Amino acid sequence: MLNWDDFYAEEKPKAKAPATPAAPAQTVSQKPTTPSPAMAPAQPITTTAALDRANAALANLDVAAGLEDLEMGAARIQVDDKRMINCKADLNQLVPFKYDWAWQKYLDGCANHWMPQEINMTKDIALWKNPEGLTDDERLIVMRSLGYFSTADSLVANNLVLAVYRLITNPECRQYLLRQAFEEAIHTHAYQYCIQSLGMDEGEVFNMYREVPSVAKKAAWSISHTHALSNPNFKTGTAEADQELLRNLIGFYGVTEGIFFYCGFTQILSMGRRNKMTGVAEQFQYILRDESMHLNFGIDVINQIKIENPHLWTAAFQQEVIQMILEGTQLEIEYARDTMPRGVLGMNAAMMEEYLQFIANRRLTQLGLPEQFAGVKNPFPWMSEIMDLRKEKNFFETRVTEYQVGGALTW
Ligand SMILES: [Fe+2]
Ligand SMILES: [Fe+2]
Repeated sequence: MLNWDDFYAEEKPKAKAPATPAAPAQTVSQKPTTPSPAMAPAQPITTTAALDRANAALANLDVAAGLEDLEMGAARIQVDDKRMINCKADLNQLVPFKYDWAWQKYLDGCANHWMPQEINMTKDIALWKNPEGLTDDERLIVMRSLGYFSTADSLVANNLVLAVYRLITNPECRQYLLRQAFEEAIHTHAYQYCIQSLGMDEGEVFNMYREVPSVAKKAAWSISHTHALSNPNFKTGTAEADQELLRNLIGFYGVTEGIFFYCGFTQILSMGRRNKMTGVAEQFQYILRDESMHLNFGIDVINQIKIENPHLWTAAFQQEVIQMILEGTQLEIEYARDTMPRGVLGMNAAMMEEYLQFIANRRLTQLGLPEQFAGVKNPFPWMSEIMDLRKEKNFFETRVTEYQVGGALTW
């Protein structure tokens, strides 16, 4: 790692170094050049002409005309001007808050900050490389989980940044979306860190979403819900377009993050509870905690759009949403069967099916829709405990689960 001493060492004058021939061009390092204080200093102004031109341009700056581009001009905004979609108020004014829950989630997300390299992977590497360390069924679960998640979080991040962010017209929600986007980058980093630590074939893992049917179907379902929004000309403002945005939000928050993540999370966390692949499991534990906040944020946004635009939530649209949840549940059940051909880690595909139906009921209830699976129970109550972990030590007893970063501490 570069440190400050190394950084400045390059700038110190070398004491009477003997003259050496210039290095041939092909030996030049491929590393990007680090800008240094001594390199390329700003050129002194030899003439005042450039400065005069800058001052003349500023003298002609029409502040009022420049701010005309803002919707509703630069007027001070009132809380009642704010709306989740199709808002005409200035989006550069964060306060006054209308949706305090969005700001609170932003603060909570920042307080939960973590990085993948903080987690010790030594035991995992030894176990993974030991031919007797894991059964074939356990290895299949690790491979499939990393295969699905390594690309799924990129799909989510791309949808957030390239489609959703532009169309959610509220600054406190956008503030959380920026935090979520960074968390998705950390998650992709975490999966890459696991894949690299374990010495897996990166090409195989990163291409599972195209090559392994049970993984590919889930990815294809998610991608099919970004098509309309990823068109740069897509605009909200009509009932049809606003429903398309809702479809995307329900597809990503409700199904992709709300259902598609749960078989893999449960499998890896169950492995960790049995003291296997505890580093990978710990990464997944932090990711699950972030994801449960993403999900809750998404549900709050969807429900707020419904409150502000009741005409969108028609009976036909509600039926469509129920079908989306059922499709997602079915795809995740297929994934469970594919990744658990036999009982493994105290679980089997039938138990996972009941768990996913329980999760589907929960998503439907959160969206104000009727449950579709009668009488199902949660066969993995420990999953809820993990999502709700706060200050107590985590269940692997390796470290405190929720640390507070400096900015969140009370002095
Ligand atoms: Fe994520
Ligand atoms: Fe997420």
